Amino acid sequence: MDIPQDFLNTLQHAIPVIKKHIEEGNPISIITHNDADGIASGSIISKTILRLGGSFKTTVEKRLDDQVLKKVLDEKPKIVVFTDFGSGYLENIGKTFNEQDVIIFDHHLITGEKPQNVTQINPLENNIDGSREIAASGVCYLFAKTVDIRNRDLANIGLIGALGDQQDKGNQKSFTGLNTFIEEEALSYGLLKKTVDLIFYGYETRPIYRALAYTTSPFIPGLSGREDNCVAFLNHISIDIKKGDKMRCLSDLTEDEKKRLFSALSNHMISQGCDSSSVHDIIGTVYTFKNEAPSTPLRDGREYSSLLNACARMNRPSIGISICLGDRNESIKEAEQVVDDYRRKIGTYLDWVREKDRIKELSSIYFLDAGFEVDENIVGVIASILQGQGILKDLKPIISAANSNDGTIKISARGADAIIQHGLHLGKIMQEAAEQHQGSGGGHDVAAGAFIPQDKINEFIKSVDEIVSRQSTI
Ligand code: C5P
Ligand code: C5P
Repeated sequence: MDIPQDFLNTLQHAIPVIKKHIEEGNPISIITHNDADGIASGSIISKTILRLGGSFKTTVEKRLDDQVLKKVLDEKPKIVVFTDFGSGYLENIGKTFNEQDVIIFDHHLITGEKPQNVTQINPLENNIDGSREIAASGVCYLFAKTVDIRNRDLANIGLIGALGDQQDKGNQKSFTGLNTFIEEEALSYGLLKKTVDLIFYGYETRPIYRALAYTTSPFIPGLSGREDNCVAFLNHISIDIKKGDKMRCLSDLTEDEKKRLFSALSNHMISQGCDSSSVHDIIGTVYTFKNEAPSTPLRDGREYSSLLNACARMNRPSIGISICLGDRNESIKEAEQVVDDYRRKIGTYLDWVREKDRIKELSSIYFLDAGFEVDENIVGVIASILQGQGILKDLKPIISAANSNDGTIKISARGADAIIQHGLHLGKIMQEAAEQHQGSGGGHDVAAGAFIPQDKINEFIKSVDEIVSRQSTI
């Protein structure tokens, strides 16, 4: 796979801008998005600047609103770099930073005209599918490598955002498009290994009951986050968790044991209301990061990405950035604690959702109003899990809402891939409905979000339901 020339050209445009400010000794202000892709992206750009001899400050933000932009402006930067967001806010960025240079590395929906002082690198401008074929971390990696070939050691981090944004939607949960270009590079540099198997975190490194319990994508009801239940489950199907004194890993199981495990898991998931396609999600391409120590959660690409996501969603993004920048000591221990708390939180939220009929079915959407019961940072993860488990029987998107402490409501929308064939683009729908009710929204076709004032929730949901009804051919 080759990189389209026009996209390569846009990568080139950002280099002189960054180099000029480094030569002038100006610190570079990097603002990145609060999820795995954002952390990986911000880290790649930070490392690139560091290696060029420049200085930088990396800040992680949940959203880009006027308040955040003003806070950045107050620090009087000469250059601001946005990673994994920015393209949806071109007008406000242009207005706020009219005397600064701005660079945006993004893969989200582009809204409005690009102001003169903004260099935008977004694959959507070059007709590359930014929702499926490359994430912001991939864009940042390709930029880093264009700056200096030695940055190719960052190829695995370039793939982490794609895993976090669920772009592994090819055959056997593999990558497609430009992500395969990055993957081929990582393989050829000896950084990556690919196998097809059960995709539990820690395939060759963790005791099997723990690998099962640690896996949150897909989220297996009753097993994810529950080591005790996993031990009982394996006992029940006569799979030994130990051989002699040594704990067995997934890679130690015989083919027959793996088949037995898959079949028992399928039955378990179906009995919990999951559909057959989510059951198939437990088999796929395992991405092993060969440059990471086998005993760490960074060895498995999906687990690394979940770890960054947990740090972001639990308000500890700096731990994730330290790890991407190379810290392999304290940060790993701290991150493991954060992941533990995160997993437990998700389990509690899912129990809350399942405890009663919390998900309402409207004409064209499902609606989950979580109020203050679910953390606004995690409501999107819950929507993704609910969508991905196949427990929503109709082909309708799920819109979830959580109250934010700042008086707004955080909305997360998720839909099955098939909704696109029925004419829906959730990012555009969120944008349209939010604008009607004094909010702002955007995102991808199958995963999008918005922020709206708290008193507008009922009208907003009504609008979303109407727009989906009007646009959808379902
Ligand atoms: O901001 P960003 O693009 O990085 O976030 C996309 C979000 O949507 C991620 O949380 C990802 O897990 C989710 N997603 C999803 N289903 C998809 C694609 C993305 O839930 N098919
Ligand atoms: O926050 P959540 O994971 O639900 O976001 C889903 C997608 O929608 C992400 O790609 C996010 O960047 C995007 N989004 C957006 N504008 C918002 C809220 C979310 O573009 N106001």
